[in-house]
Amino acid sequence: MSNTVSDQHQGSAPSLSLQGKKVVVVGGKTGMGLGIAQAAYAGGASVVVASRRIASLSERPDLANFEQIILDIRDEAAVRQAFDSIGAFDHLAVTAAPDFGTWGAFMDSDMTGVRSYFEGKFLGSWACARYATPHLSTGGTITFFTGGAAVRPKPGFTAPTAAFVAVEALSGSLALELAPVRVNTIRPGFVDTEMWSILPADVRDGLRAKVRENFPARRAGTAADIAHAALFLMTNPYVTGTVIEVTGGENLVPSVM
Ligand SMILES: NC(=O)c1ccc[n+]([C@@H]2O[C@H](COP(=O)([O-])OP(=O)(O)OC[C@H]3O[C@@H](n4cnc5c(N)ncnc54)[C@H](OP(=O)(O)O)[C@@H]3O)[C@@H](O)[C@H]2O)c1
Repeated sequence: MSNTVSDQHQGSAPSLSLQGKKVVVVGGKTGMGLGIAQAAYAGGASVVVASRRIASLSERPDLANFEQIILDIRDEAAVRQAFDSIGAFDHLAVTAAPDFGTWGAFMDSDMTGVRSYFEGKFLGSWACARYATPHLSTGGTITFFTGGAAVRPKPGFTAPTAAFVAVEALSGSLALELAPVRVNTIRPGFVDTEMWSILPADVRDGLRAKVRENFPARRAGTAADIAHAALFLMTNPYVTGTVIEVTGGENLVPSVM
């Protein structure tokens, strides 16, 4: 890895094109990860999606344009093996996280939930960055994902709140330690993905209605909104060490949950 990058973009606006680039999305089979995979492919990249299982194309024809790799972010050896098998690439996004709500409330559970959440969200993000970096091109990027709880804690969300803050700290540290690889974090607000399928349908609909009514954007976020920000981070050569909020203004209004 060289310590300098060319001034190829000097004087002209960077392009959002990913033509000729290779993008790896850990968590890329659903939700924001899938949105990023689709946008990166549309932008000209070849795309690898990694998660805990390979889906058949009869089950998931929408994955036909992507290479699928099995990887459990809690398993360091598996993460290393997955990135060694992928080889050289340009951009990494890590959207994977343990299932919503698995952490347990602070006083209602022992520490099994928080250990497991950190193992997935924090150490999983760490492991992906650690074993991806030797394969990243000069000028490559890493994008992590957190959530609004990082700056607005909520009762019952202690484990993700702490893990999100830790991931954002990791992101800033790596922007220095891995430079010129650029490292950033997207902090999404409510985005209507499969993650929310854990809620009963009527509760999920009620949440959507509150979002439409209260968020300044007057709608729920989509995976495409997040993908747009992710492609910006991959392609703007002067953005590193930052956290971008894509929230529809959620942070400006009282919590809807
Ligand atoms: N959606 C929101 O409103 C929202 C708001 C704030 C923050 N976030 C954060 O944003 C990120 C993306 O959210 P999302 O809504 O896109 O989630 P999602 O649709 O639930 O996607 C999560 C993905 O992670 C994969 N995954 C889970 N555990 C894994 C593991 N141990 N190893 C490898 N892959 C694993 C899953 O695939 P497999 O099951 O195939 O492994 C799944 O594709 C998450 O970190 C979430 O905490 C989401």
